[in-house]
Amino acid sequence: PLVSTCDIVIPAAGEGTGCGAFNAVALEHVSAIIAGAEAVRTPVILQVSHNAVRYHGALGPIGSALVAAARAARVPVAVHLDHAESAELVREAVALGFTSVMFDASTLDYADNVRATRAVVEHCHSNRVWVEAELGEVGGKDGVHAPGVRTDPEEAKTFVAETGVDCLAVAVGTSHAMTTRDARLDFDLITALRARVGVPLVLHGSSGVSDEHLTEAVRHGMTKINIATQLNRVFTEGVRGYLAERPEAIDPRRYLGAGRERVAAEVSRLLGLLSIR
Ligand code: G3H
Ligand code: ZN
Repeated sequence: PLVSTCDIVIPAAGEGTGCGAFNAVALEHVSAIIAGAEAVRTPVILQVSHNAVRYHGALGPIGSALVAAARAARVPVAVHLDHAESAELVREAVALGFTSVMFDASTLDYADNVRATRAVVEHCHSNRVWVEAELGEVGGKDGVHAPGVRTDPEEAKTFVAETGVDCLAVAVGTSHAMTTRDARLDFDLITALRARVGVPLVLHGSSGVSDEHLTEAVRHGMTKINIATQLNRVFTEGVRGYLAERPEAIDPRRYLGAGRERVAAEVSRLLGLLSIR
């Protein structure tokens, strides 16, 4: 069933475990992410980014598919809009039945980030939709990696109080879209953020983090773990492998299906990893 994002994230934060938030680019990702979660009987957050919405040309079709798939799932599934850069897109997601949004004004200066985020929070909370924001820009979305950026714990605490956000994305050493899993996380900073910030913390760019360090990040206090590139990698490997073995294949259901199977297996594996205490 479709559940509120807080129903997945708050219990995980309380128990000190992680919850997987996986990005869907196409419908194959949606069914794979849900199948992967069902296989290990674990709740999951299904998310679509503003960039993926740009790829599709509109939120409506893919967004409705996410909500419908979540409703039909045999495990609790929350539906989240990721890295929304416009308040208008946030409103559309709320109207479609999304259970949370990430409003990303991390490129703005502090005062403008607070102002823009607060307006989004007001609208979302009046519709019982959860809001995630980002403080300290996690780089890499534009292909420029800046793993040195860090979120200041004191500023993060103030930002949460001033905006009323429900969870916070922080910069602790990751960068988006890494294809090697060798990001160096600042575990002491995670501990300091966890101690100061009263809401669950979100790790972006988690594809760049090794299995071992993902578990450590959760142990130090990260809760929502966003993973996109790693699923794209295994999806593409599956498609490429299928087509290399059968160059005569023309039915997309065959080769996309091969990618989908790999994504489901990887989601099951990652959810198992994140639920370890
Ligand atoms: O918001 C999505 C995540 O931050 C994904 O990052 O593609 O590096 O896993 P990733
Ligand atoms: Zn991200």
